[in-house]
Amino acid sequence: MARRRQIYEGKAKILYEGPEPGTLIQYFKDDATAFNAQKKGTINGKGVLNNRISEHVFTMLGNIGVPTHFIRRLNMREQLIRQVEIVPIEVVVRNVVAGSLAKRLGIEEGTQLPRTIIEYYYKDDALGDPMVTDEHIACFGWASQEEMHDIADMAIRVNDFLTGLFAGINIRLVDFKLEFGRIWENDFSRVILADEISPDGCRLWDMTTNEKLDKDRFRRDLGGEVEAYQEVARRLGLLPAEGTETAVLDMESHRKKRGQ
Ligand SMILES: Nc1ncnc2c1ncn2[C@@H]1O[C@H](COP(=O)(O)OP(=O)(O)O)[C@@H](O)[C@H]1O
Ligand SMILES: [Mg+2]
Repeated sequence: MARRRQIYEGKAKILYEGPEPGTLIQYFKDDATAFNAQKKGTINGKGVLNNRISEHVFTMLGNIGVPTHFIRRLNMREQLIRQVEIVPIEVVVRNVVAGSLAKRLGIEEGTQLPRTIIEYYYKDDALGDPMVTDEHIACFGWASQEEMHDIADMAIRVNDFLTGLFAGINIRLVDFKLEFGRIWENDFSRVILADEISPDGCRLWDMTTNEKLDKDRFRRDLGGEVEAYQEVARRLGLLPAEGTETAVLDMESHRKKRGQ
């Protein structure tokens, strides 16, 4: 295959130039990082699972009218997406206390919040993605007030939808991170959902056992990362029944051997 131009390599994904203007190819790596990339590792097969899970979630969100960058999955690790101008804000939606919220405010992890909280973090690795408010976002022009209104609206819709989706497979959606980007149509722009939705950026707890089915297994050295991601994919109906959990990964190595 002809070499494609690489646009960007991040911590978990690589972006390549797409086949048409305004499109990109998003390649999902097995690399995992935590604590602002101070901890690094690989989770074998994570990229395959995240590609599939994100495809599924974005497709369903598209079906309920949330605009997203997702066009279609190309193969086990790649998807075709619309190129956006990323809004440099990580949008975190929280339903249950965990992670940095528990630490910062000294509240016990697992405490159900009386109402959903949306937090914003300025996307800047060198600064450690500091938390910011609407005021900073407006003041420094990272997004307009109208864009932030649309972003908050979409974040709540995504939360309502995903909370129900995961509840239906006995998973509690504790919190998650979203990214949005601008697309231009003539002189007008609008924001759409970008990046990915996967166990890398969500906290997903089994509702019965509270077992963590997300990247906290890696962050906290709990082990069983791939099994947890596979469990999420399986419950979403994206993997064959239990007992064949390595099928997807075997398939990938099989294709690689055949040079596909
Ligand atoms: N549709 C898109 N168009 C342009 N950039 C995107 C799009 N979706 C996601 N991105 C950006 O591509 C990068 C994805 O790679 P990732 O490994 O997550 O990077 P990072 O280490 O910056 O988080 C992110 O920086 C993300 O903001
Ligand atoms: Mg990222």
